[in-house]
Amino acid sequence: MIRVAFYDTKPYDIPSFEKYGAQHDVAFKFLETRLDANTASLAEGCDAVCIFVNDDANAEVLDKLRLLGVKLIALRSAGYNNVDVRAAYGKIHVVHVPAYSPHSVAEHAMALLLTSIRRIHKAYNRTREFNFSLNGLTGFDLHGKTAGVIGTGKIGRIFGEICRGFGMRVIAYDKFPADGTGFEYVSLEKLFERADVISLHCPLTDETRHLIDQNAISRMKKGVVLVNTSRGALIDAEALLQGIKDRKIGAACLDVYEEEADVFFEDRSGHIMDDELLSRLISMPNVIVTSHQAFLTEEALDQIALTTVNNIRSCFDSDGACDNELCYRCGKIETCKKERSGRCF
Ligand code: NAI
Repeated sequence: MIRVAFYDTKPYDIPSFEKYGAQHDVAFKFLETRLDANTASLAEGCDAVCIFVNDDANAEVLDKLRLLGVKLIALRSAGYNNVDVRAAYGKIHVVHVPAYSPHSVAEHAMALLLTSIRRIHKAYNRTREFNFSLNGLTGFDLHGKTAGVIGTGKIGRIFGEICRGFGMRVIAYDKFPADGTGFEYVSLEKLFERADVISLHCPLTDETRHLIDQNAISRMKKGVVLVNTSRGALIDAEALLQGIKDRKIGAACLDVYEEEADVFFEDRSGHIMDDELLSRLISMPNVIVTSHQAFLTEEALDQIALTTVNNIRSCFDSDGACDNELCYRCGKIETCKKERSGRCF
């Protein structure tokens, strides 16, 4: 039996992880707390830890886990910017779930976009109070508009295809443009200049942090709609707020926020909100915020649990090779061929 400390547990995580854990001899110790330097000790007696996007596996935490005998970090997410993969190299193996349901995220991005530009969130509130006025609810057609997709991996491609289904022109920027997408690849500058809607689907790296800053916003069309279902820090939230106040940004649809770790995923309705920037953004009539919800479909939850349990099993079974191991050794974190043994180290 492999024992796994499962941090930041939410009620919707438990059924699928219990199901697949029982099938594969993996016992989860479900913990509500997040992983950080103070809570690492809760993994005592466990072979692995399973973490999500707001757990913090920095170098100090990794050292503490290693001293406890933890051999594996199993991310139940695609993104891994919260793990110091470089520091983990040679000490603790790191696996992630590269894909579960890219449709869940792409469809959520479109749901946010449609809600925002057709003012559905406002109409919903109005009709609940028998206010049937249409004043202030004028939207615009997506048909014939230009969508700018930044990052044309699994999710970005699907989002682009959905946009095409709406009759939009799709232009794209990717550091590594892919063949066969049918999208018109352009420079980032051209994308900012031409897109009516910009949707972010690239990972958060040192290079992409604050990709959308004051300078980028200044190059965009007046009235542009920004959609971010990727990672909060891709956008400089101060610059975004200023762009909204300047009437430059027509609307912002945010499923992620730079400082979300302090607020998202919890019920804070009875509390004073300390994050003034987030409060200000939420108070804007043209900003919609969901709290990192884009992944949350039944299909995605099932696939996340199945892949995570398979990842854990592979790492502890015979040769320990796992296709989903993140390898720092050669720099090609996701795509390297690993050691001859099939492991990163
Ligand atoms: P992916 O790895 O399939 O695609 C990422 C794309 O970004 C690749 O085509 C890559 O070439 C491109 N890219 C890398 N560096 C870039 C750069 N500097 N500039 C422009 N493009 C760059 O990843 P996938 O599965 O499509 O996920 C995208 C992001 O979505 C993840 O990194 C994650 O942060 C986020 N995500 C959010 C979820 C949510 O619930 N809100 C759930 C799952 C993922």
